[in-house]
Amino acid sequence: MTNIYFAPMEGITTPTYRKVHRKYFGGIDKYFSPFIVVTSAHHLKKRETREYIPFEENMVPQILTAGGCDMAWAAKMLKNLGYGEVNLNLGCPAATVVTKGKGSGLLRDKYKLEKFFEELFSESDLPEISIKTRCGFVYHEEAEELAKIYAKYPFKEIIVHPRIREEYYQGSPNLESFEIIKKKANSPVVYNGDIYSVSGYEEIIKKFPDISGVMIGRGLLINPALAEEIKEKEDYANTNRENTGSRMDNNRHNAGRGIYNQRISDFMSELYDEYMVIMSGERDVLFKLKELWTYLSKNYPDAAQEYKAVMKSKNGAEYKAAVRRIIG
Ligand SMILES: Cc1cc2nc3c(=O)[nH]c(=O)nc-3n(C[C@H](O)[C@H](O)[C@H](O)COP(=O)(O)O)c2cc1C
Repeated sequence: MTNIYFAPMEGITTPTYRKVHRKYFGGIDKYFSPFIVVTSAHHLKKRETREYIPFEENMVPQILTAGGCDMAWAAKMLKNLGYGEVNLNLGCPAATVVTKGKGSGLLRDKYKLEKFFEELFSESDLPEISIKTRCGFVYHEEAEELAKIYAKYPFKEIIVHPRIREEYYQGSPNLESFEIIKKKANSPVVYNGDIYSVSGYEEIIKKFPDISGVMIGRGLLINPALAEEIKEKEDYANTNRENTGSRMDNNRHNAGRGIYNQRISDFMSELYDEYMVIMSGERDVLFKLKELWTYLSKNYPDAAQEYKAVMKSKNGAEYKAAVRRIIG
């Protein structure tokens, strides 16, 4: 069965979000932390350390850095804390990141990228290293050169989001570029980008049956049960080969919208309570949850007015009343 990974999303898939998601929804083989910035000072801000302390099962910390030695330092530090795998961010498109030669900025100069990996892999005692990469900085044609570089190193997995930096999150993922990296890779390859439904997942698996997994970000923010729905359908197909229709008891397709909405409602209200404990006030909590609703609302296309009320809410009571109008 193909692995399903929850994509790292800065400011959204926080330790709190991951904890509460784990409690209410299944189907995720690994969660990835949003990027943790590592500089040559080898000192991490308290805010960053909260991403990986306390230790979290089936979570892969992700590092954003410009130096191979700095990556090695962070990876070993995380290994000492119990993390068997550490991921390198080669995708972040933000200008402030790119100009410092981090994230997708590392893809710009292929010589420097190779030097990064030479430095990293010259160290001993590393945990397993995976990368999350775009297919190029300016052109998709860069995929060829990147593929050759990646093929030289012993990555645990190569997660490919087949857009280039210039595209940010626009346009469609370029499946030809994905194929180029996958064909040349000497490591298992994971597909990431624009999977929003069970059928979207199935299309990718049909096209690339030999990938080791898919990573899903926004699709899981919109429907937090998506991974579970995918796995349930696969399980059912595997045990009932003659009838590959889905028979999922607990999700929206079968049990009806009522039970599904109740789970979403419990999930969102626990997130509210958890954030109230760790954040400095209701305003901050509302800001955080409204960001989530920009995604979750796409799951409720008939509730445009109610969604507006959620976004306009000024305090917890208003917020909760507006949410109840959407999910009960
Ligand atoms: C708000 C936001 C924050 C993100 N933060 C990160 C991050 O910290 N690290 C990373 O590698 N990718 C980050 N991404 C990219 C996602 O992990 C993912 O690659 C991208 O959204 C495409 O996958 P999707 O179409 O399934 O969402 C972020 C994306 C968004 C929209």
